[in-house]
Amino acid sequence: MLSREENELVTRVGQGTPMGETLRRYWLPALLSKEVADPDGPPVRVRLLGEDLVAFRDTQGKIGLLDELCPHRRASLFFGRNEECGLRCVYHGWKFDVSGACTEMMNEPEEFDFKHKVRLTAYPTCELGGVIWAYLGPVEHMPPLPKFAWTQSPEPHRHVTKVIQECNWLQGLEGGIDTSHAPIMHRLISETSTRGGFKPSSPFVRGKAPKLVVDITDYGYQYAGIRPLGDNEQHIRTYQFILPFHQIRPSKSESGLQLDAGHCWVPIDDETTAVYNWAYCPDGPLTAEDRLERGLGNGPMHVDPATFRSKANRSNNYMLDRTVQKQESYTGIDGINVQDRAIQESMGKIVDRSKEHLGPADKAIIQARKLLRQAVKTVEAGGNPDGTGISYYKLRAHEAVLPHDADWRQAMTPEMQPEAILQTV
Ligand code: FES
Ligand SMILES: [Fe+2]
Repeated sequence: MLSREENELVTRVGQGTPMGETLRRYWLPALLSKEVADPDGPPVRVRLLGEDLVAFRDTQGKIGLLDELCPHRRASLFFGRNEECGLRCVYHGWKFDVSGACTEMMNEPEEFDFKHKVRLTAYPTCELGGVIWAYLGPVEHMPPLPKFAWTQSPEPHRHVTKVIQECNWLQGLEGGIDTSHAPIMHRLISETSTRGGFKPSSPFVRGKAPKLVVDITDYGYQYAGIRPLGDNEQHIRTYQFILPFHQIRPSKSESGLQLDAGHCWVPIDDETTAVYNWAYCPDGPLTAEDRLERGLGNGPMHVDPATFRSKANRSNNYMLDRTVQKQESYTGIDGINVQDRAIQESMGKIVDRSKEHLGPADKAIIQARKLLRQAVKTVEAGGNPDGTGISYYKLRAHEAVLPHDADWRQAMTPEMQPEAILQTV
């Protein structure tokens, strides 16, 4: 559990809040590249850490991420014209380039214009892995680019989607680094069900309740859920947590390809989160079927492609079907990540962590909260928080059934590739 004060500290993300200032020290996914696919195409609204912004791709393909409101008399630049290397406010024709410089003032005679005195907040961006990332912090502290293995994989091997979740970012993250719920909440109860979920015959479901081992590193941690499996075996599933909100987990595609997959829980504001869902196959391209994410519930059947809102949501009880719950799946809700959204949103916009009862199965969550509070302290003391180096660049996750006495680290570390383990808890 956390005290009310600690809970406020780790959840609030606005400008000037301790966690908000800490999150501003990382590259943050701001939007999908395809949202601003074409030069001089329509600008889009972006809300990030409670700041209202507008993004556009200029004539030369450069990305602008500017304050949404025009500095003249505060009209929204979402209505602007994206033309000739700048975004022009349609109210009086002031125009801004991707650096935020004002390049024209249509409503002022040339001899009176003061465009060199006007500048709009513009955040640096980079485009990696089909995502436009933004840096909202002090320029002198800008970290190396977010070259996760998935952002470096070739486009045919990779898939990224976005879904808006109606709760605080930390609730999403804590679901993603919580292995103990996965083979419970996401299990199928019928072997023949074709819905998303883990079949009763899978070792993940057959394994007993897990023991958790958390290896603290300088990017966050890797951790393993260790599940006894029959008399002679153990099921091991490893995850990576990279500060401040990245998860990497082992996965399988809809067509059966072995994948690395994960999520980033990016705060839109205190009570809303943009969840980026990514997957890549190191061994080959993904199929069209894989990209539908039927089992996960993040594809076009489950999420409105225009608004990124989940079609199954709180207002329709996530389309819970009690007959399906009796006969096919544990929750009766279709789609693994729809189930996650339903349960995480059910805890309230910001869960009251002072009322929790945590156990050993919550060890990874407890450690993540510690690392986040440590990152806040580091920033407050003038340092660079963990996860702003490059030690996470090649990380992977893994899943295996091993003999019951096998050393799982030895068996799996080559695939997981952590550089150094600082402490094991
Ligand atoms: S409000 Fe934008 S140009 Fe006047
Ligand atoms: Fe889950």
